[in-house]
Amino acid sequence: MEFLGSNILSIDQFNRKDIDLIFKTADSLFPFASRQKITRVLQGAILSNMFFEPSTRTRISFGSAFNMLGGEVRETTEIEATSLAKGESLYDTSRVLSGYSDVIVMRHPLAGSVAEFAEASRVPVINGGDGDNEHPSQALLDLFTIKKELESHNKEIDTARIALIGDLKFGRAAHSLCKILMLYANISIKLVSPDKLKLPDFLISEFEKKNISILETQDIKEGIADVDIIYMTRIQEERFDNVSEANKYKGLMSLNQKIYTKNCEPNTVIMHPLPRDSRKDANELDDDLNQNPNLAIYRQTDNGLLIRMALFCLILGVADKIESSASSVSWFSNKS
Ligand code: CP
Repeated sequence: MEFLGSNILSIDQFNRKDIDLIFKTADSLFPFASRQKITRVLQGAILSNMFFEPSTRTRISFGSAFNMLGGEVRETTEIEATSLAKGESLYDTSRVLSGYSDVIVMRHPLAGSVAEFAEASRVPVINGGDGDNEHPSQALLDLFTIKKELESHNKEIDTARIALIGDLKFGRAAHSLCKILMLYANISIKLVSPDKLKLPDFLISEFEKKNISILETQDIKEGIADVDIIYMTRIQEERFDNVSEANKYKGLMSLNQKIYTKNCEPNTVIMHPLPRDSRKDANELDDDLNQNPNLAIYRQTDNGLLIRMALFCLILGVADKIESSASSVSWFSNKS
């Protein structure tokens, strides 16, 4: 794809060459994300961060990524704080905001709404998550993490065995991850979920069309055996008709150190897009895994910064100007 000036709305946009370019760019940005070097390559540029659903990682890492490249960030975190609450259309909001910004990241509760917003925008729009549809930057950082974790065990993505566990019906991170994994023909996938929360049929059909091996099960012990990567997900309470309906599924798919030790191969990597629901009745990823060296959830969130910096560099056309813009850090920085 041509990155310059493009929206990032869906994983469908990318081929493997595009992904390789994003990952290469992300790797080159490590000295900047880890504060060994600084750059002001996006000085003067403005990001509008429009998040109409709760977010910690996506909103703040997109904002930090833009700041670390020297740009400024404007934040809006409530629909009620905008004129959308007074009946203004997404079209008008987009036309107006794109006059005030050089790039926009949007999260919205309705599937398809970010694409609708992007159609009216005069600047690139990045989908920070639209309803139960997609979360493309999450899938990119997830795949980047899978690659790094596998490489540290002398393995590769092309032959990876991956278990996706939890709410595969509503989880947009899982949907985008499935789409990106389909680009790797020799992987095998286990889909582990309660029957009512199975991966949508259209994604199962896509796996089948590509002859990718899939196994569907409701048994977490079967799911986590003989895999390289476990990808846990949260029950997406906010997508159910009511909380009591969501509560029926909480705690059904729960991983702790004891279950891990008994059923997993050594060095099986544990991932989760986060947030993990740490309330007792849910607890899909127990705190007793926090000292497990194969728990990659914080390496995953750190990688999010690199991937989001890379996306900004590519769509704003500064990827080849980073190194020449670099200077050293003059304050105490203890990032490792
Ligand atoms: N993974 C993710 O999207 O996290 P946030 O909801 O905190 O942004």
